[in-house]
Amino acid sequence: MNLESSILDSISTGVLVLDGDLRVTALNASGQALLDTSEARCLGVNAGKLLLDAEEWLGYLTQVLESESPHASRSVTLTLLSGQEIHVDIIITPFSANEGGNGLLVELLAVDRLLRISREGSLQHAQETSRAVIRGLAHEIKNPLGGVRGAAQLLARELADEELAEYTGIIIREADRLRDLVDRLLGPNRQLELRPLNIHEVLEHVRRLIDAESDHRVTVMRDYDPSLPEFPCDRAQLIQAVLNIMRNAVQAAASPEECRIMVRTRSQRQFTVGTQLHRLVCRVDIIDNGPGIPADLLPSVFAPMVTGRAGGTGLGLSIAQSVINRHGGTMECESSPGETRFTFYLPMEVQHA
Ligand SMILES: Nc1ncnc2c1ncn2[C@@H]1O[C@H](COP(=O)(O)OP(=O)(O)OP(=O)(O)O)[C@@H](O)[C@H]1O
Ligand SMILES: [Mg+2]
Repeated sequence: MNLESSILDSISTGVLVLDGDLRVTALNASGQALLDTSEARCLGVNAGKLLLDAEEWLGYLTQVLESESPHASRSVTLTLLSGQEIHVDIIITPFSANEGGNGLLVELLAVDRLLRISREGSLQHAQETSRAVIRGLAHEIKNPLGGVRGAAQLLARELADEELAEYTGIIIREADRLRDLVDRLLGPNRQLELRPLNIHEVLEHVRRLIDAESDHRVTVMRDYDPSLPEFPCDRAQLIQAVLNIMRNAVQAAASPEECRIMVRTRSQRQFTVGTQLHRLVCRVDIIDNGPGIPADLLPSVFAPMVTGRAGGTGLGLSIAQSVINRHGGTMECESSPGETRFTFYLPMEVQHA
């Protein structure tokens, strides 16, 4: 085995190399496992023959070959020759070979459809709709609420009886509580204050907060990619987002002593958010070893007011997600008992909503 193919085989992503006529010139070990075939069976075979229903797949490949610009697709379903369906993210990059020919490098990343909250357009659309409803509702609540509070204050001044003043006090406090809830529902509404920032500074800050809050009982492990460059972020809002994610992990754990959180950063090439392809994004994984998110909660865990916790308002993740989205990024979640992973991606070139 030559060096090139042993390097290819050590990559956990499926890698398929095609020539200018879409014939397979290489398929690494992960790609063989994913497509349930062997390299020997595929070499020289047209990429269209690797799948049962190859129309969409061939469409992507020819498009990249013709346009000579890369393409990424999320959560594509491919039907293997055996009839089995696999769900993958596909990244196709064109290249020119030394000998003058051109070809395609195809990366296939398996996606577990059941456990992943996808970043597909339909979901983003649903979230935008629910946010619009909340904004409208919040407005309708806050206006009369201001009136109720003001009237209670006026009344309090007129009342001589101390006992009655207690009632106006209740009205004012409850009105304030409702106003705070509505404000939290709306999420951070001020403009992002963007400054070039090292993401590790944010993560370290939250780590120290969690450490202090838990009286040093929670273990937070770090696996940082030191080569990540600074990029423009709103420090305070990102701290809030990460804190919301980590606090959930601490709250879900049976005890703080058992709670272990891993924070990992990586740079990632060619990543799409919505319809936008980014050359380079910063990927942050926050993984905990807790009991996991209940399966019935998982599909809507980012929605506001969804909570599995007595006393929870169900806003932490919705706020975190909205902060990440406003940075032009996206967030997803995978969870099973013993491992819950929140992953967010932030574009490192300036591209803000
Ligand atoms: N790491 C985790 N492990 C287990 N369950 C989780 C985890 N993160 C979130 N959850 C579940 O998702 C629910 C929603 O989380 P979210 O942060 O949005 O709201 P909350 O924690 O209930 O309330 P709030 O954050 O507003 O105080 C939680 O109540 C919990 O059931
Ligand atoms: Mg929370």
